[in-house]
Amino acid sequence: MNLSSYRIDVERYAKCIEVSKRVRWDIDQDIIRGRNFDFSHKFLPDGISKVDQLDLLNNDEKRLLSQIQGRTYANMFGFVERFITAKVLETTRDHWLGDQTALEALIRFSDEELKHQELFRRIEKMMADGMAEGYKFLPDPDAVAAAVLQNSTWAVLALILEIELFTQEHYKQSIEPEENLSDLYKDIFLFHWKEETTHAMMDELEWPREDSKLSAEERDRAVDELIAIVGDVDGILQNQSAADTDYFIKVCDRSFTEHETQHINDGVLRAYRWQYIFSGVEHPRFQKLYKELTTEQQRQRIDAALATLN
Ligand SMILES: [Fe+2]
Ligand SMILES: [Fe+2]
Repeated sequence: MNLSSYRIDVERYAKCIEVSKRVRWDIDQDIIRGRNFDFSHKFLPDGISKVDQLDLLNNDEKRLLSQIQGRTYANMFGFVERFITAKVLETTRDHWLGDQTALEALIRFSDEELKHQELFRRIEKMMADGMAEGYKFLPDPDAVAAAVLQNSTWAVLALILEIELFTQEHYKQSIEPEENLSDLYKDIFLFHWKEETTHAMMDELEWPREDSKLSAEERDRAVDELIAIVGDVDGILQNQSAADTDYFIKVCDRSFTEHETQHINDGVLRAYRWQYIFSGVEHPRFQKLYKELTTEQQRQRIDAALATLN
């Protein structure tokens, strides 16, 4: 399709601007408010950490593992937001001239992600102060962003939509209804969720707009790129789940056999694959657009790649 004939849904972008203005928050005044993390409570709910499935752990150990996973969860957002911001800024190029509504909406989106990165850097320091030494978050945001951004915009926007849908899903389904979480931890994801709702709406506008520029061959190559990206994401999850299990074993008050350690590592990796891959890919809004933009044959290729991660 000729780009100039692509109709931009200005009203949808205008809605994003309106919501963005209404929900806008400040890191200190609205979220942190002089508080610290309450380590007597879990950070992530069981619906996300899946620690309730690890029967060999007692309640104190489950709480500790939920805090370690919660620290990684926050770091993961700070990390993916590096390439999300870069890609969104790049997509603004098509809106520089002409109607300025889409441009403003996307600039707000980027600005919010920059603030979110700052939030996640701030709370990483606070979590570090309250936890034993030795935790490691392995992926380097700039190196991974540089690698991700080598791919076509189509593939990267698919990944971004997937991430922004699971962000909302995790909050609404698991964090919001859980009463016994650290108050500060819960608030971080309440406020993050508020500003994330418009992001997925814009991804749903930008991904099809990008799709309209591609030939069938280009799209088919983009599908292969998406499959490769998911494989790389899984590599990151394998390394980080091993690092988090290691740290958990080191700071626990008792020792575990090799078999038990493997069992915990498997549980953490399963949780991470669900958190960062499956809960987004299986989201109805992701599925809807994905089915509109891909062929049956392409979906079979993607589904076959995903099946190897189970
Ligand atoms: Fe964010
Ligand atoms: Fe976002």
